[in-house]
Amino acid sequence: MTTAHAAGTWKLGDQVINRMGFGSMRLTSNPDRDVAIRVLRRAVELGVDHIDTAAFYVTPGGIIDSGSGPRRYATELIREALFPYDNVVVATKVGPGLTPTGDWETATTPAELRTQVEENLRRLGMDRLDLVNLRLTSRTAPVAPRFEALAALQQEGLIRHLGISNATLAQIDEAAAVAPLVCVQNSFAVDLRRDEAMPRILEERGIAFVPFFAIAGPGREDGPTANTHHAVREIAATHHVSEHQVRLAWTLHQGSNVLAIPGTGDEQHLLDNIAAGAIRLSGEDLAWLSGTEQG
Ligand SMILES: NC(=O)c1ccc[n+]([C@@H]2O[C@H](COP(=O)([O-])OP(=O)(O)OC[C@H]3O[C@@H](n4cnc5c(N)ncnc54)[C@H](OP(=O)(O)O)[C@@H]3O)[C@@H](O)[C@H]2O)c1
Repeated sequence: MTTAHAAGTWKLGDQVINRMGFGSMRLTSNPDRDVAIRVLRRAVELGVDHIDTAAFYVTPGGIIDSGSGPRRYATELIREALFPYDNVVVATKVGPGLTPTGDWETATTPAELRTQVEENLRRLGMDRLDLVNLRLTSRTAPVAPRFEALAALQQEGLIRHLGISNATLAQIDEAAAVAPLVCVQNSFAVDLRRDEAMPRILEERGIAFVPFFAIAGPGREDGPTANTHHAVREIAATHHVSEHQVRLAWTLHQGSNVLAIPGTGDEQHLLDNIAAGAIRLSGEDLAWLSGTEQG
């Protein structure tokens, strides 16, 4: 069986990890928490050692709303499945948050950011978060004051590494002037390429690029769309793999610094996604895929 090692490795901060990771946003959409626990443990058994999460990945009322029922927090599922996290890097994000009544709020002040960091520590059962991304909601807003607040929490020992999410190059530069960044997490897929040069620019700087929506593409939170570009379809047929696997493989081919975090709540999809790390696309495949329409 293919493991996460097939995707190769990258040194994220001070730890070498497999480039095939796991995104936990979809875990809470399954009403059966045992399935989520199984998926997480299976991922780690298969070599996944980089898991993305957020304290606001919660249902009902959070990112993926599966209706009524008890709240399920991705962070708590991760804790239940994986504590004490033997060599697994858990990356989380702050900025957006949920009030106790399920409304969205954005942390901007140092005190609000601290509260979110402490919530992540509590839910994950950690003394120090491995990696915290400042998740931006504006491509023009200043970043330095919030990044300074996170850098202070890092100095205090509550955070090991810092990253940024949903950021432009100018915002990345602004953050990097405050404190070192180990990763940038932006939406990016074969048909969703707003900042096409980003993976390469970050690779030159030794910073990981962590794309989200690699499989979902323009479907974003709604998940994969049925009408994938015909190049993806035909290359999938040639390699005897699924279109989703081609999308993931394309992502990993965008640079040695690209870390995949496919999100799934389904065990078979997990295995398929990990297997995509072994797909080697040809120069011809890549040239054809680079011509696909961009969202
Ligand atoms: N920084 C940010 O702002 C931000 C925003 C969004 C997401 N993220 C992170 O990035 C991760 C990835 O994003 P994502 O989960 O939204 O999108 P994604 O990984 O591109 O795609 C997930 C969607 O594709 C389906 N899927 C996954 N593997 C599949 C397969 N092998 N075959 C068929 N369908 C498959 C999933 O449904 P099933 O559950 O049925 O497999 C889900 O609908 C998230 O989990 C989250 O950790 C970060």
